[in-house]
Amino acid sequence: MEVVILPDAAAIGSVSADAIGALLGRKPTAVLGLATGSSPLAIYDELAARYDRGLISFQQARGFTLDEYVGLPAGHPERYRNVIDTVFVSRVDFAPGAVRGPDGLAADIPAACAEYEEAIRQAGGVDVQILGIGTDGHIAFNEPGSSLASRPRIKTLTRQTRVDNARFFDGNIELVPTHCLTQGLGTIMAARHVLLVATGRSKAEAVHQLVEGPVSALWPATILQHHPHVTVLLDDGAAHRLQLADYYRETYRSKPAWQAI
Ligand code: F6R
Repeated sequence: MEVVILPDAAAIGSVSADAIGALLGRKPTAVLGLATGSSPLAIYDELAARYDRGLISFQQARGFTLDEYVGLPAGHPERYRNVIDTVFVSRVDFAPGAVRGPDGLAADIPAACAEYEEAIRQAGGVDVQILGIGTDGHIAFNEPGSSLASRPRIKTLTRQTRVDNARFFDGNIELVPTHCLTQGLGTIMAARHVLLVATGRSKAEAVHQLVEGPVSALWPATILQHHPHVTVLLDDGAAHRLQLADYYRETYRSKPAWQAI
């Protein structure tokens, strides 16, 4: 696991966009795993800016979002399918239908989850998976207690996650759905490269557990310690509790220029 501590979200966006741009340069048909929430916004802003400058194209790429609230109506602005369109997909040149998400309105949820996993597999798997992390250590919506081998399924959101996400729902926790469909931890582990982004002190404990804690279903993100290619991109706030922060900084500073993340 590589830990990169950067001054701010813009720097995180830039380093991430370098990695995604390099991937698309060598594989224009790359499959991108797309997180929603606030953490990846700087990445999407930077990618959209590079697209505007003609430096990058998503024309042949595909995307799969991580998760979706159950039951939010199709036009709801906080439906993750709509969020990813607004913050990223509509700003670049993906082909129509190239970005998919789990169907939170499916009548047969287990069938929709199985079909989603199969669609990712048929696309050849995810080349780079962008992730945020919840204050309770979730990735996608794999809440504490999730099976470390899980596949897409319905999950109940923790109260903590609903409190955290109430900011997107007029500050009203009652408006935050109680259930979601989410890629499983096993699904995420199959991605070839994971870029996990966290900013701010509210993430510091989850980040400490992710990087330095024991692997445990209590902190689901810790499963990433078993992944061969994870890059954790942090600002100082999110890195605040890391025991080996100085070592991670030194390692990144002394990294050879040819060795990309
Ligand atoms: C969103 C997702 C979640 C978020 C996490 C952090 O698709 O899968 O795991 O990444 O809840 O959210 P933010 O970035 O808003 O703090």
